[in-house]
Amino acid sequence: AEDKAEASSSASPPPSSYFIGKKDEIIEAGRVTKLVNNREVLVLHHDGVFHAMDMRCYHSGGILFYGDIEEFNGRLCIVCPWHKYKITLAEGEGLYQSVDPKEKPPKPRWRSKGVKQRIHRAIEVDDDIFVEFNDTPGPIESDVYQTESFRARARAK
Ligand code: FES
Repeated sequence: AEDKAEASSSASPPPSSYFIGKKDEIIEAGRVTKLVNNREVLVLHHDGVFHAMDMRCYHSGGILFYGDIEEFNGRLCIVCPWHKYKITLAEGEGLYQSVDPKEKPPKPRWRSKGVKQRIHRAIEVDDDIFVEFNDTPGPIESDVYQTESFRARARAK
């Protein structure tokens, strides 16, 4: 396998990226989690596209591994199983609906709270999937739930 990586150096992962697993296996599993840069990252495959994000929801540390994927306002979101917060897969924005009482009749509209969940970049290289860690300076709200101390507290519950 090493020979192959050298032979196709144009298709090698960025140096700072982390190996997640074999593409076939992730497609079959649908989702995997892996420690990346000492945080839990969820990698999922949906409609032919790989996505990567912090595994714990920005709201309260819900387990996005079990979240459904649905479209809201034309945007693909993962829905946290704990309190149903909706997070866009591409940007990590929190979406919510609100009603303007001045509007007659009031009609719920989708709005964004901005980026709340740290999204990472899933990269396909040949048969493998890598994640490039998103080290954009934060904090991004999901950061507080990805630490080892949070994981230890969650395990103890
Ligand atoms: Fe995800 Fe509350 S923890 S919605």
